[in-house]
Amino acid sequence: MIYPIHVYGNPVLRKVSQAVDLNDHSLPELIEDMFETMYSARGVGLAAPQIGKALRIFVLDSQPYQEIFPEEEPRKLVFINPQIEELFGESIALNEGCLSLPEIYEEVVRKSSVKINFWDEKGEYHKEVFHGIVARIIQHEYDHIDGKVFTDRVSTLKKMLLKRKLSDISDGKIKTNYKIKR
Ligand code: NI
Repeated sequence: MIYPIHVYGNPVLRKVSQAVDLNDHSLPELIEDMFETMYSARGVGLAAPQIGKALRIFVLDSQPYQEIFPEEEPRKLVFINPQIEELFGESIALNEGCLSLPEIYEEVVRKSSVKINFWDEKGEYHKEVFHGIVARIIQHEYDHIDGKVFTDRVSTLKKMLLKRKLSDISDGKIKTNYKIKR
């Protein structure tokens, strides 16, 4: 099932999400729906709040970056109840976008590497270090489950310049080629 993407202004994006019950029988379906929703909107990552569920789960598939970063192995991953243990390496500025913030692209500075523990879709526990674009997507999606969006991380000046664009999103004055919910 494809969910509408909840966009900026919807309070669910500002909630600190709750832990996922690993024994919840609807979990496999939720994961499948999250991938389906992400792919249909041409996203590379999707967190549960973006489909209206304040739960600590996100999915990603870095395959679309294969052409730009051919040295990086594409990864398709599910993170359930993740915990970032450490952010390290270089601070890198890179343009980010978000399905919940259509038409906004801004440089965000993030660390190049992340050490994170999480459960996967099979209920297996992992402690893993990620680098490059996958580390970038992880940090972006992790923000979502803590009630943050990437524009929270730009300079005060940039925030001022984005005010109009952000209110256009929350006012519904935007066009997207995927279904949205304000
Ligand atoms: Ni996002």
